[in-house]
Amino acid sequence: MHTKLKILSLATALLVVSEVAQAADAKKGGELYAQRCAMCHGDKGAGDGALAATMPEGQKPRNLAAGGYKYATDDAKFKELLQKGGAGVGLSVLMPAQSDLKDADLESIIAFVKTLK
Ligand code: HEC
Repeated sequence: MHTKLKILSLATALLVVSEVAQAADAKKGGELYAQRCAMCHGDKGAGDGALAATMPEGQKPRNLAAGGYKYATDDAKFKELLQKGGAGVGLSVLMPAQSDLKDADLESIIAFVKTLK
């Protein structure tokens, strides 16, 4: 009985910890998004950042809230896009690489972008 209770509370603690970690990731991702993506993709991901107007038709920043990606159709490909930039995966050179960021930061950005949908 005692052991069962201990296991149960341990499981609950782990669940709480992993939920907190996930929330923190998206929060960190949101800060990185504001610094590195919003000027093109817009604060809410609508593809209407300040720089979007300067870009030619057909090479506008994607609407991240609508989705419908050409390349980044899953998390692995999204990460690859961020590592290599648009030019590295056959998309526009106007989509810059984030090659200075660690994997964990890229994953945080991806987690945040999902919250825009
Ligand atoms: C300088 C402007 C600019 C910045 C900054 C920028 N992007 Fe983009 N992004 C673009 C453009 C332009 C495209 C469209 C590329 C195309 O259609 O060929 C794009 C496309 C995308 C796509 C769609 C890819 C696909 O497969 O269709 C995603 C996802 C994306 N960007 C995420 C991000 C994230 C996350 C950041 C910040 C880390 C970011 N972008 C920063 C301009 C930018």
